[in-house]
Amino acid sequence: MKNVSDNPNSRIIVALDYSDPEKAMALVNACSGSGLKWKVGKELFTIAGPDIVKRIQDAGGYVFLDLKYHDIPNTVGGAAKAAAKLGVDLFNLHAEGGFEMMEAAVSGAKAGNPDNPPKVVGVTVLTSLNDRDMNVMGNMDSAGARVVRMGNLARLAGLDGLVCSPKELRDLRYMWPEAALITPGIVPEWAADNKDQKRKMTPAQAIIDGTTYMVIGRAITKAENPLEAIERIVREIEEAMPNHGKNALNIMEQQRVNYMLKMYQLDADRFIKAR
Ligand code: C5P
Repeated sequence: MKNVSDNPNSRIIVALDYSDPEKAMALVNACSGSGLKWKVGKELFTIAGPDIVKRIQDAGGYVFLDLKYHDIPNTVGGAAKAAAKLGVDLFNLHAEGGFEMMEAAVSGAKAGNPDNPPKVVGVTVLTSLNDRDMNVMGNMDSAGARVVRMGNLARLAGLDGLVCSPKELRDLRYMWPEAALITPGIVPEWAADNKDQKRKMTPAQAIIDGTTYMVIGRAITKAENPLEAIERIVREIEEAMPNHGKNALNIMEQQRVNYMLKMYQLDADRFIKAR
């Protein structure tokens, strides 16, 4: 993958899901210089505001602003510009907000920081949802098919990649080889189970399936010793790295994705032409 350092720590984005900014900063400072990346999500940002982003940056940290924008294009474009001005490295949005909203986010990111715009990634289907959850919301696509459809739209809208379930990595890596694929839903064998992550995987398996970065929250933040938990995950990644992305789709699986993509591309082409 382009622009990803060989340091296995750089593959980990720690979800700083704390209600106390001092706890978040204690972990950031304890890991200073490690190359780990930091995710500021809704809880921490709502409590601590842009100041927490600045504090992490002052400590030399890479910030993924996880506010999952989802609104009309003008509003998301403005939010994207603000995020870029704040200097975050990466932010996300819900691809379900639509093609024009995604385009507005990419333009906003460039307008806010023309020299070094943040990367923009789209959430396809939340990893807490499975096929039954999708169906009860009236969505007859399986979660897996929906991910391919939305992933294709995000690619056409100019995004840099996707947030996805690790179970969807192989399909998405095949259909979009250069994408930044960011996977939450990562739970090491030894960690207490996170029951709300229905489509989960171990760090090693996610590497073998081709993840770019993995988001890990509770397996680290709720561990008795978070630094030791990080170290165990880093070792697991290091061991798996020689096989990064090796679990690629076989020919039959490629045909399945090609078939889906053909249908979705027809829809997308029709939409783009009619604009
Ligand atoms: O604690 P855990 O490792 O399950 O944390 C996962 C993190 O990833 C949470 O901060 C959650 O908000 C985030 N997430 C995400 N996109 C998803 C699913 C979870 O950013 N599709």
